[in-house]
Amino acid sequence: DWTMAHFRSSEIEKIRAQVGSARVISGLSGGVDSAVASVLIHEAIGDQLTCIFVDHGLLRSGEADEVVSLFRGTYNIPLVHVDARETFLSALDGVSDPEQKRKTIGRLFIDVFEEEARKLGGADFLAQGTLYPDVIESVSFTGGPSVTIKSHHNVGGLPERMNLKLVEPLRELFKDEVRVLGRELGLPEAFIGRHPFPGPGLAIRIPGEVTSEKLDILRHADSIYLEEIRKAGLYDRIWQAFAVLLPVRTVGVMGDARTYDHVCALRAVTSTDGMTADYFDFSHDFLGRTATRIINEVNGINRVVYDITSKPPGTIEWE
Ligand code: XMP
Repeated sequence: DWTMAHFRSSEIEKIRAQVGSARVISGLSGGVDSAVASVLIHEAIGDQLTCIFVDHGLLRSGEADEVVSLFRGTYNIPLVHVDARETFLSALDGVSDPEQKRKTIGRLFIDVFEEEARKLGGADFLAQGTLYPDVIESVSFTGGPSVTIKSHHNVGGLPERMNLKLVEPLRELFKDEVRVLGRELGLPEAFIGRHPFPGPGLAIRIPGEVTSEKLDILRHADSIYLEEIRKAGLYDRIWQAFAVLLPVRTVGVMGDARTYDHVCALRAVTSTDGMTADYFDFSHDFLGRTATRIINEVNGINRVVYDITSKPPGTIEWE
């Protein structure tokens, strides 16, 4: 793509001009945006960049390993992998309010990140995979009054605290453009095509209290759902698809025994930028097949529902 090849080289020049010989640290989230930003910056300044991946234990199954092997293996980019799963889980203990969850996770993320950055001897710049819609949506909501619908979790606050300047090479791009850029940079197609995933991760897909047991149940259901979507060849037609574990138990019957387990809600939407969205029109056949698999295979779920809410008035995530 001519335009993106041009963007790539001019952005590399800009990064070099901005950073000079200073040190840059970058927080990898496991998602496409921070990965593309980091690979681009690494191309510009090489090992002046160090990536920090804080594993908060709220990722989907297999995700952490994928990121680590992509960066260390394929790209040979210096990466610090921090296993902070226990720390996050205990901080979330007893927290059920959605904004409280975001704030707890955001604050802790900064603490852990800051500590790791100090261990590295500090830096002058912080790289972020901020996109154009992030810039807009954090100011107002789809052109409406300036009301915070959801505080988006990133490392906000960290730049001031650590006296870091920001490098945000994706600030002018939409999600689909980031994917084109990622392809341009040679990131694997399966990684680039990944659905967006929120910073607070699975914590905002478990309304109510987050526990490690619930995380395991949700991860299992989510991976079955995504597997069925891929098998049906639908993954690339969907903007985001995920399972939500509801804090509601309902009665069911398995064989001749009564069950009393969680409800799992499935969500899938189409969108171009995440600002508006429509629910995805699965066939009943697909939904029935997937629900049956989840109920049969996942211990702790005995009922599955499908969310048919568009955005607005709903949001994509449940919290
Ligand atoms: P909503 O739920 O607001 O989501 O319709 C729009 C897009 O943003 C993602 N999202 C988040 N991303 N931190 C993030 O990094 C957050 O706190 C957060 N909340 C929602 C969501 O997955 C969707 O792609």
